Amino acid sequence: MNPRRIHIQEVGLRDGLQAESRFVPTMEKIALADALSKAGVAKLEVSSFVSPKAVPVLADAVEVFAGIERKPGVVYSALVPNLRGAERAIEARVDEINLVMSASESHNLSNLRMTRAQSFAGLRDVAALAHSHGIKVNVSLSCSFGCPMEGEVEQQTVLDWCTRFVDELQVQGITLCDTTGMAYPTQVRELTDKVRARWPGLELTLHFHNTRGMGLANVLAGIDAGAERFDASLGGIGGCPYAPGATGNVCTEEIVHALELMGYDTGVDLGQLLKSAHTLEDLLGHAVPSQILKAGRRLDLHPVPPAPIKA
Ligand code: COA
Ligand code: ZN
Repeated sequence: MNPRRIHIQEVGLRDGLQAESRFVPTMEKIALADALSKAGVAKLEVSSFVSPKAVPVLADAVEVFAGIERKPGVVYSALVPNLRGAERAIEARVDEINLVMSASESHNLSNLRMTRAQSFAGLRDVAALAHSHGIKVNVSLSCSFGCPMEGEVEQQTVLDWCTRFVDELQVQGITLCDTTGMAYPTQVRELTDKVRARWPGLELTLHFHNTRGMGLANVLAGIDAGAERFDASLGGIGGCPYAPGATGNVCTEEIVHALELMGYDTGVDLGQLLKSAHTLEDLLGHAVPSQILKAGRRLDLHPVPPAPIKA
């Protein structure tokens, strides 16, 4: 039997870098994007077309898109909050527009400075524009598993927004985002089951942050419930600058390492991924959360320590 395919969608260049204070030079972003697509990720969120005042470190999205090599089969995506962003993204020839809205009113107000209703009304125009250009539309629904300002976000609220995005905006994909690491495995399983049962043809992605150490457990719970697409970030960097307490995404090399051991096919070359991960600390000027970078792979061998000298 063929191993089950799990699609790894790299978000380090967007979710990862947006959390950094240092501006990573455009050429370095391009080199990292090319290395990651060569390593075999299925989708690459290259940048975001948001207000450069809101996220200055990603103000070079147009230049990054212009400089990357497009590897056939890889989907080059970008985050878009409004029509202005969509126009810039279309000009940059993105393969997919990733709309962003929060399931929580408080987080939507702090992140996007709009109510959810205002966001949705604007995104209706964005989706129509993208579709008229033949561009796929995905929506990332932030705080789908809880909000750092409101607490629980009712499953029904999440399902209702999913319904509106599918029925009214005809999105091809939905990403359920755990923006501040509030998701836990049984909750993930339940929501994934419900969304898959209701929209079997929808491209569902799960997006976890490892803020409370449940990242990999949540990925495995999602896989058990049939999910096949996961966002992850090289080195485990990341976090929404407008969500209090946000920290890094689940770490791409940790997820690939674990899934490979378990016999899943991620399509990703772990060795190449690790080479890229090793460049991150110099690029960012600080240590990154990745455990695999520190410990190495499970069967990486260490030299035998010298025998103690007998007195
Ligand atoms: N791309 C480039 N510039 C944009 C833009 C976009 N997508 N959207 C707005 N702008 C510019 C406007 O032209 C305006 O510029 P000006 O001051 O020179 O005239 C300025 O940004 C403010 O525009 P406005 O429409 O008043 O937006 P706002 O200040 O209320 O901000 C958002 C709303 C959505 C644009 C902003 O909050 C945003 O980009 N948020 C994204 C945050 C994010 O990326 N979070 C992490 C991802 S989860
Ligand atoms: Zn995120």
